[in-house]
Amino acid sequence: MAKILITSGPTRQYLDPVRYLSNASSGRMGAALAQAAIDLGHEVTIVSGPVSIEYPSRATVIPVVSTDEMLHSAMQAFRDCDGAIGAAAPCDYMPRFVNDQKIAKTGDPLTLQLIETPDVVATLGQNKTASQWVVGFALESEDRRFRATVKLEKKHCDLIVSNGPTAIDSDENEVELIGRSGDVLMKIHADKQSVADRILQVIQERLIP
Ligand code: C5P
Repeated sequence: MAKILITSGPTRQYLDPVRYLSNASSGRMGAALAQAAIDLGHEVTIVSGPVSIEYPSRATVIPVVSTDEMLHSAMQAFRDCDGAIGAAAPCDYMPRFVNDQKIAKTGDPLTLQLIETPDVVATLGQNKTASQWVVGFALESEDRRFRATVKLEKKHCDLIVSNGPTAIDSDENEVELIGRSGDVLMKIHADKQSVADRILQVIQERLIP
């Protein structure tokens, strides 16, 4: 039995009390990965941004809103976990300044200054111990295998799941699971639960002692 952390869903970065930037992410891949891990007898903690789906009742869910909160909660939960899967789509940018009041319309274009948020998976990857593992996702529209391999190295992942943009808001996913030497370990195009089951099988074979 392993303790597995899964980040899931989008995060939000508020511009003012009512408006926010976010990513298109339903959390369905995270929920399917959690179910697959639970089915194999593992203990699952999910750090999730705001979603409208239900997670498996046997998973511990830690709700967060912003990328900073996701990072903080994920780092804390990871201390007690054997490995992490980064299935979330954290918002990569946040406004340099957040308005306390709703920004009033003036009729003129509104210029926003955005700064990058921290990378949750890369931070987990940098801080993992020798016995911990991290699996990331990479959503690419072109040069997928190459770009996913670059991301795997940059984020200190043990495996990376490369998927295409058709994964967004779909019941299906088409993925390649790529190992540290850039080799394709598994390829599948199916519903998200079947994809998650296969990903967990490979994690089980390669990363869980
Ligand atoms: O760089 P990109 O967003 O394509 O990387 C995708 C991978 O990195 C996913 O595993 C995603 O969960 C993770 N990620 C993250 N924090 C961010 C951006 C991406 O954990 N701020």
